[in-house]
Amino acid sequence: MDLVHELKGLLQPITQPTPLEIKQVLKGIGCTHDRIAPYLSEPDPQSSLPYGRKVILRTDLFEVIVINIPGKTETPVHDHGHSIGCVYVVFGGFINRLYKVGEHSKEPVLQTETRYGQGECLLIDDGLIHSMGNPVQKNMVSLHVYSPPIHDNKLYSSSTGSSPLQISRRNSGNLSSIWAGEKGP
Ligand SMILES: [Fe+2]
Repeated sequence: MDLVHELKGLLQPITQPTPLEIKQVLKGIGCTHDRIAPYLSEPDPQSSLPYGRKVILRTDLFEVIVINIPGKTETPVHDHGHSIGCVYVVFGGFINRLYKVGEHSKEPVLQTETRYGQGECLLIDDGLIHSMGNPVQKNMVSLHVYSPPIHDNKLYSSSTGSSPLQISRRNSGNLSSIWAGEKGP
């Protein structure tokens, strides 16, 4: 069965989704390179996003997105509005940099770095702030499910508290302004 139709059927019965419930769906669907290949997109030269981002399903409750991050590329630091969700690594891997914004500062401060490999899931709780970086030359592809669909998410400058973004193609200046108007993953 087509990946989108199968996802729609599996998500439909869930009325009060949690990150763990979404993880179970993503783990069980058997999403391989072949199944996701028709939904891959390359970075749009007209966009400031240096990675492919394709919404493949949107309902009142869910938004499903395929992300294709080229080698040695990092997303901006971002949150997900008030959405929760889960990221499933279809192939490749990424470094997840978790940030926190202090009470008296609007700058995000790096807390931890964790590597996620093929078949692993990152749970997205409300309030999570992070970036995703692909540290190798080969691209990395992930399948993201959010609930509700992402709305009013923020992009942050990452100039404080983190080492220079060695793997970013956009590692200077104010990322918040560079990425204004764009949704993060
Ligand atoms: Fe994200």
